Amino acid sequence: MSTPSGTASVGPAKIRIRHLQDAKERGRPFSMLTAYDQYSAKAFEAAGIEVLLIGDSVGTTVLGHATTTGTTHQDMLTFTGAVARSVHRPLIVADLAFGTYETGPLDAVNHAVELVRAGAELVKLEGGHALVPQIRALVNAGIPVMGHLGFTPQSVNSLSGHRVQGRDAAAADELAENALAIQDAGASAIVLELVPAQVAARITEVLHVPTIGVGAGPSCDGQVLVWQDMAGLSGFHGKFVKNFADMRGDLTRAAEQYRAEVTERTYPGPEHSFE
Ligand code: KIV
Repeated sequence: MSTPSGTASVGPAKIRIRHLQDAKERGRPFSMLTAYDQYSAKAFEAAGIEVLLIGDSVGTTVLGHATTTGTTHQDMLTFTGAVARSVHRPLIVADLAFGTYETGPLDAVNHAVELVRAGAELVKLEGGHALVPQIRALVNAGIPVMGHLGFTPQSVNSLSGHRVQGRDAAAADELAENALAIQDAGASAIVLELVPAQVAARITEVLHVPTIGVGAGPSCDGQVLVWQDMAGLSGFHGKFVKNFADMRGDLTRAAEQYRAEVTERTYPGPEHSFE
């Protein structure tokens, strides 16, 4: 596969969980981006992104909800299907929506089965110790699990907003204990969100499964960003985000140019018109 910059992407034709594990063991960081639709997913595949996450952030980034608690299971099925049908190489991870797994292992498995049918290869859920029964049940059902610790957006109300987690020693210890608990229950990888860099480094060191950081410093085994933040489309400039493009500016300028040419009747020209 060749990337837009012309560099051939190395590695397997299809990314599997074991490749993330290999990457950790070799000390080679990998990249995860959110994706919700065909064209963005294809662009990220062409760029060699190893993991695509159909995040429940689709509720805020695409559907206009204030928080991810508004994202439904049906939303997750729709957008997971769109991405999974569009790409071949990246590992496909889909979020279990708020309210679809907290109630117990049976609910977790039933909803995860539907995500797998829609094309997910792993399911992600948010939380620690309390979810050990759900994680065990999913793994026993043959469904690999990605954990999510630190700031867990579905708990935004009980966490009193978007706040860095694990700042003091007791909270950092609790975070590490939760990470070990969900690893031992069978999680194949763990997202660490809004965690001090040194705490994420410590957790990454003690776990044998890969960590994937978002606002968790450079020592995690992989990194993840919401793609509209990465590409400068969302207008979100949080400390942990780097805009690798100015898609909002580019799109606005393109739309202004389109409007100007329509107004001036220079678009469509003869070359865009049928005889
Ligand atoms: O839903 C999402 O986009 C996420 C990432 C921030 C990890 O969970």
